Amino acid sequence: MTTAATVWWQAGTIYQIYPRSFQDSNGDGIGDLAGIVGRLPYLRQLGVDAIWLSPIFPSPMADFGYDISDYIGIDPIFGTSADFDALVAAAHGHGLKIILDLVPNHTSDQHPWFIESRSSSDNPKRDWYIWRDPKPDGSAPTNWMSEFGGSAWQYDEATGQYYYHAFLDKQPDLNWRNPAVRDAIHEVMRFWMRRGVDGFRVDVIWHLIKDEEFRDNPTNPNFTAGRPPHEAFLALYSTDRPETLDVVSEMRRVVDEFDDRVLIGEVYLPVDRLVAYYGKDLSGAHLPFNFALLSAPWNAFSIRELIARYEAALPLGAWPNWVLGNHDRPRVASRVGTAQARVAAMLLLTLRGTPTLYYGDEIGMKQVPIAPDQVQDPLEKNVPGIGVGRDGCRTPMQWGGTEHAGFTTGEPWLPLDTDYLHQNAAALATDPHSILSLYVKLIDLRKRMPELVFGGYEPVDAAGDVLAYRRVYDGQMVLIALNLSGEPASLHVEAGEILLATGLDRYGENVSGQLDLRGNEGVLVKLRPQ
Ligand code: GLC
Repeated sequence: MTTAATVWWQAGTIYQIYPRSFQDSNGDGIGDLAGIVGRLPYLRQLGVDAIWLSPIFPSPMADFGYDISDYIGIDPIFGTSADFDALVAAAHGHGLKIILDLVPNHTSDQHPWFIESRSSSDNPKRDWYIWRDPKPDGSAPTNWMSEFGGSAWQYDEATGQYYYHAFLDKQPDLNWRNPAVRDAIHEVMRFWMRRGVDGFRVDVIWHLIKDEEFRDNPTNPNFTAGRPPHEAFLALYSTDRPETLDVVSEMRRVVDEFDDRVLIGEVYLPVDRLVAYYGKDLSGAHLPFNFALLSAPWNAFSIRELIARYEAALPLGAWPNWVLGNHDRPRVASRVGTAQARVAAMLLLTLRGTPTLYYGDEIGMKQVPIAPDQVQDPLEKNVPGIGVGRDGCRTPMQWGGTEHAGFTTGEPWLPLDTDYLHQNAAALATDPHSILSLYVKLIDLRKRMPELVFGGYEPVDAAGDVLAYRRVYDGQMVLIALNLSGEPASLHVEAGEILLATGLDRYGENVSGQLDLRGNEGVLVKLRPQ
């Protein structure tokens, strides 16, 4: 049994903020740091422990901040360096940790490092990026595809070579085989940790190292039309190379130079490869993000099976984690529906492992339809019409029923959902049966019941579309039963008392022998000690 009860990133709940969309304070229609400061009391009431900010650094915004032109500054859209210090101080004052997005795989093409690198073949920074000669026929060095459409190689007329970009051509990949690059990013990490940052979420960490021999990727035999074009190939040689884990361990050592910091990695890989990012002897990321729930078929059988596979794959001592939404995937309330969004919340906050929740999911925000002339996302622009666009999950936070939902006094950079008049934080906070009230209760229970944090996970048999499990710790036992269908269901349970139901209504009900669930209902039962 773990004794790490005081480690904040194990016991706590992480809340992702997409800064452009959280709260605008200066009327330009784009969220900013001062806006976040003003909303810290809300986060405190919600009960989360840490906030992760998507990138806030100077950027031409080709990929809305994931194209960084200065790793140690703050983009004026978001505020100043002083605003950042004020945010750290205020957050810490509220007992909230701050996690920054670290984007080490690529920079903006406007970063001074790349401007130097492309200036001539013998520039000292040439080898900071991935430059290759064309094939004899002039074509790209390999068949590697960009995740944002087309070849991942961009020809540079001036120097007669191609550079590699896993995402936009405006996001050239850094060469992580070059020790000078590693040192430079390590210094960036130290810079922010000295400024008080509590850790990093590392962008596309499984992309960092590419094949030394630059072999072509094999074709994907399961590729189907309607999927993003890069999936026509298996990214065997362009991602998840064995040497990546050494690079991750080095980052971890930098994080460990400071007390009590966390290293989280963005990893979209099957479970067996995902868990490799904990590193040999857990020397890698503390939390390689587990995105399994983002694409899971929403039924009890599939979810039970994926939890079992994840639990079984975790290395000894590795701390699990779960994610229900982020700025790249459709909103959970639209993926599973409004009623099941409550069940999903109970799942996220009662599974074993650190939960990360995405801003707005706690008020049930949905994927917002974006008209063609409102599209902002470069992915949707490059790969249109197949539903990969990310604007719909990045719309402004719905704070209240006033104009623009209280997000801005100007014109919001993305449209608000038309439902904001009712579906907003202020209205839901006063409704004891709202999804927001459910989130508050779940997060609070997690703080008060060590079995929800440190307890083991024990699956419980249930018929039909019911997912049930116990969390057991130190003689304390809680049962969670989630009805993933709209039909009533029941299951056998030991004697206990309902502490929370997703409808926020069955408080204190005693159960013994049989637990009846309404359609789309989740229930948390404190079991009597045997
Ligand atoms: C990550 C980010 C995504 C970004 C991409 C390229 O997947 O989450 O938003 O577009 O990396 O940096």
